[in-house]
Amino acid sequence: MPRIISTHKLDDRLGDICDEIYTGNCIGLPTETVYGLAADAFNGQAVARIFEMKGRPKFNPLIIHMLDLEMAQAFGEFDAISTKLAEEFWPGPLTMVVPRRENTSLHPLAFAGLDTIGIRCPAGPAQKIIGYFKRPLAAPSANKSGKISPTTASYVASQFDDTDLMILDNGPCQVGLESTILKIEGEKIIILRPGFVTSEMIEEVTGIIPTSSASGKIEAPGMMKSHYAPNASVKLDCGTCDNGAALLAFGDKKADNIFNLSKSGNLREAAANLYLGLKTLDETGASMICVSPIPNEGLGIAINDRLQRASAPRNT
Ligand code: TXA
Ligand code: MG
Repeated sequence: MPRIISTHKLDDRLGDICDEIYTGNCIGLPTETVYGLAADAFNGQAVARIFEMKGRPKFNPLIIHMLDLEMAQAFGEFDAISTKLAEEFWPGPLTMVVPRRENTSLHPLAFAGLDTIGIRCPAGPAQKIIGYFKRPLAAPSANKSGKISPTTASYVASQFDDTDLMILDNGPCQVGLESTILKIEGEKIIILRPGFVTSEMIEEVTGIIPTSSASGKIEAPGMMKSHYAPNASVKLDCGTCDNGAALLAFGDKKADNIFNLSKSGNLREAAANLYLGLKTLDETGASMICVSPIPNEGLGIAINDRLQRASAPRNT
């Protein structure tokens, strides 16, 4: 049974809530837009748990929730335009996709290995919790994949009724629609997802008329076919490791050049290690990375989706 906790007297509960997040659990987090399924953005297994709980077959990049512009600047690069938008609309229902800073503690699973990052500073209880936790939270909407986004705590509970998820009840969300997502590219502002912050509001603040993403769909560059491709070629479903190749292992395996995603065959651990494993083996200079079979169920579907992209014929 999910544990629903009121945000009334939130200050007294911040310690317990942050302990829950710190141990690697997700929480149902109210924001002004929709309820999010939030986890510590530094903890790969916690982020993997988000995808697992949502039953999301693909590792889409998640929105990373920050306290304020100052925290955001430690993880993303803000130019004059994005700074102005942040000052005007944060905290609030606006997400900005900006260049990502390298070598931060953010787990790559949270931003899907992209060189950009989607950042939003929410208002209300979420802002207080991030302020107390002092780290960013990764959070998609708190619904099962394919279902509508939740705007009440009870809807979140109905989505995850077979879990003991901690859900903070802050009443119905004010906005009720997911945040507006903008991508800032030089002097161009592209609306990737329309929301409460409209094109007119953005133009009024920046003097720039935003364009809509050409496809009309949410643009997630991480979804491009060979985006995750390492330099080495990648061979899937390998029972053994070819001579001279490296092995990206799952389960109890042996090879000269090996990175084990999870010795015990734990999919959550494997998901959290996936990007690190590909990168580590690629850096050994191996010309081929053989990958052990990974069960195509639960979180394994998302892992295999990424591995298939890594092994797909290259665009270049
Ligand atoms: O209102 C909201 O935005 C809610 C609350 C919980 O904050 N969150 C939300 O997250 O709607 P989600 O996962 O349902 O949608 C996030 C979308 C992803 O589908 C992805 O396409 C886009 O944001 N996104 C995140 N980072 C991106 C990036 N670096 N580049 C392009 N798109 C990105
Ligand atoms: Mg969603």
